Amino acid sequence: MAEATAESLYQEAVTLAATIFERAHGGQSIDDLPLHQLVERLNAHLKERQELLAYVGHAVSPLGENHYLATHIVNTCLLTLTLGQGLRLPDGELEQLGVCALLYDVGMARILQQATASRGSGGQSPLFEDIKRHPTVGAESLQKMRVQVERAIRVTAEHHERLDGSGYPQGLKGEAVDSWAQIVGLADLYESFTRPRSKRQHQPQAHDLLRELVTQQGLFDSQLVKVLLNQISLYPIGTWVKLNTGAVGRVCGIHQGLPLRPIVELYLESGQMVRPPRKLDLKEIAAVSVKRVVNPADEGVPAAT
Ligand SMILES: [Fe+2]
Repeated sequence: MAEATAESLYQEAVTLAATIFERAHGGQSIDDLPLHQLVERLNAHLKERQELLAYVGHAVSPLGENHYLATHIVNTCLLTLTLGQGLRLPDGELEQLGVCALLYDVGMARILQQATASRGSGGQSPLFEDIKRHPTVGAESLQKMRVQVERAIRVTAEHHERLDGSGYPQGLKGEAVDSWAQIVGLADLYESFTRPRSKRQHQPQAHDLLRELVTQQGLFDSQLVKVLLNQISLYPIGTWVKLNTGAVGRVCGIHQGLPLRPIVELYLESGQMVRPPRKLDLKEIAAVSVKRVVNPADEGVPAAT
């Protein structure tokens, strides 16, 4: 059977993630097998090409806006697998880690559902106090769902803990935070930064977060942050950049281990639109480099580009 395209595989993953939330809402048990099979395919796809990563930060849920959480989960799972690959975890462990990354935010779905229900009777959006409960609520849900990957319960309970003790709900410190919970937690944070805040905004803020993570040490293991930089690059796919030549383009590919030298699709050169856009691999041309991250609208690139 021919392997699915990135688009159909992504859609399949979001549909499965939505099913996980439905089962969690209903307190039903879940069969791990389809989760393992999906993660295996995502992992294999990611190893061969980067197309799936282009969905992170840009994807609107193929199932509609109400399913944004399912999209968030799939994006986090893709990033988690990318980090796991960078850490050179064996395939068996990667698969288990990937399953954890599909399950870790079921508590958030629960909290949002409760908030929506109370909003119907004049209630409000969830308060931060409620949101802080979601790792615990999620871990309880997974127990009820009889999840077979046992570590998923710990990853869920600890994915918002930070090494310096500033996380929640327990304020765990250092080695007390599960190493897989750290990986999923970093992927989750990165995903939430790269998600566009509105339909009009198409400039991911990943660059800002990465810079912050490098300068503000102590939240995550420094080795893990380094792997993120190497795997995702300082200029992730989809980032608009201005080069030292003055040209403006969008990052369309990255080289692992070369965070400063992505492949850029040039849209604007010498003040003229380039049609069709021309690809420039900064690994090949040492004299050309990224000057800064830009907002394409400020540079005169039409919004529909
Ligand atoms: Fe969360």
